[in-house]
Amino acid sequence: MGAYNKISKFAISMVVAVSGFATVASTAAIGAEKKSREEWKKEYVRPSEIPFPKENPYTAAKADLGRTLFFDPRLSGANYISCGTCHNPSFAWGDGLAKGIGHAMTRLGRRTPTILNLAWGEYLMWDGRFETLEQQALGPMAAAVEMNQNMKAIVAELQSIPEYRTLFNVSFPGKGITVDNIAKAIATFERTVVRGVAPFDRWIAGDEHAISTSAKRGFDLFNNKANCVACHSGWNFTDSSFHDIGMPDKDIGRGKVVPGVVVMQHAFKVPTLRNAVERAPYMHDGSLKNLYSVVEHYDNGFVTRPSKSEEIYKLNLTAPEKTDLVEFMKTLSSKDAPVALPRLPAYDQTVAGSLNVSPAAGPSTGSSAMRA
Ligand code: HEC
Ligand code: HEC
Repeated sequence: MGAYNKISKFAISMVVAVSGFATVASTAAIGAEKKSREEWKKEYVRPSEIPFPKENPYTAAKADLGRTLFFDPRLSGANYISCGTCHNPSFAWGDGLAKGIGHAMTRLGRRTPTILNLAWGEYLMWDGRFETLEQQALGPMAAAVEMNQNMKAIVAELQSIPEYRTLFNVSFPGKGITVDNIAKAIATFERTVVRGVAPFDRWIAGDEHAISTSAKRGFDLFNNKANCVACHSGWNFTDSSFHDIGMPDKDIGRGKVVPGVVVMQHAFKVPTLRNAVERAPYMHDGSLKNLYSVVEHYDNGFVTRPSKSEEIYKLNLTAPEKTDLVEFMKTLSSKDAPVALPRLPAYDQTVAGSLNVSPAAGPSTGSSAMRA
């Protein structure tokens, strides 16, 4: 933490004060005074409000427009991939794949992370190369391997859809459809992506029956012997920082962004554990199949190198303790109503035109038989 963790620039002090997530990591160092279960529980209280930045304040119309854009495949060059293709609400806003698949079936280099709770995020991407959702939103649209969109063409394409013209004019009076406003609307929608109260939250709020005794033991392990809290701290289970946890692959993650810093080599952003049970497989490379294999990794499966975090060490967990940790992580998942897909604005029905449906939109892999 420290030099590589910037102070959040958003006006969220109230929320931080409620959740305490920014302060837990430092108190969890090995050898720190032992806190009781009740004291630990106070560190995990959910905030009551979503923080929005001054530069892009919340309005219901903007969030709705962002949601429509998020699920509209016409934002991609070939009109068949939306943000929601990879950030799929049915997989807790991930895709259930080890590595994402983009334009023309290109396999991406890293696993698709969730977009859950990013209103509280300080850095974006596994390596933290973006700092705001507004900055990030245009990246995947323009990236050839993801949505392969021409950013000039997208403004014209949305302009040609009458209802989008109306929706943008309502959200951005006098400005309408611009690349920046597409990003602002999507970012506003993303900040609203928060899941409901989980059994764990009910337990924190005082309902002793909300989670099992195994899960409660798992919570104690999480904060003590297993040392997970050193990085997965606070209600959102992340210190918003980067650490090398000893994953054996060649990806150096944050190391590419801050080349000179030893502990940032092979370091990745600490993901939230909220609803994680719904998003297997795990880690930036999707190499760990389920939560039990994650626990095995931390117990004794990591590689040792100069950049490895000091908070990662042999844990000597017993088999029942591993199960308790998994049972605990399962309680972080809420059972919410299914996310409804938006009705997408219709094409203009008043002008004549024809579509070029030749398979020329990307590197063509289809045989003529497939095209027929
Ligand atoms: C083809 C799959 C794919 C599509 C389509 C896609 N994403 Fe992603 N997204 C990813 C992957 C993979 C990463 C992580 C890449 C990395 O860290 O290097 C990511 C990262 C992100 C992050 C950062 C999450 C975090 O925790 O830091 C956000 C936010 C995001 N995407 C939003 C979007 C939006 C908005 C769109 C649509 C405009 C979109 N994505 C389209 C695969 C996809
Ligand atoms: C030194 C900091 C650190 C400690 C300690 C730590 N983690 Fe992590 N955790 C991370 C980072 C960083 C990642 C992402 C690493 C990657 O993708 O390569 C991660 C990823 C995960 C994931 C995968 C989430 C996802 O969406 O892919 C789970 C689950 C997890 N940790 C659980 C735990 C548990 C349980 C413990 C304690 C046994 C623990 N962590 C201890 C930093 C830590």
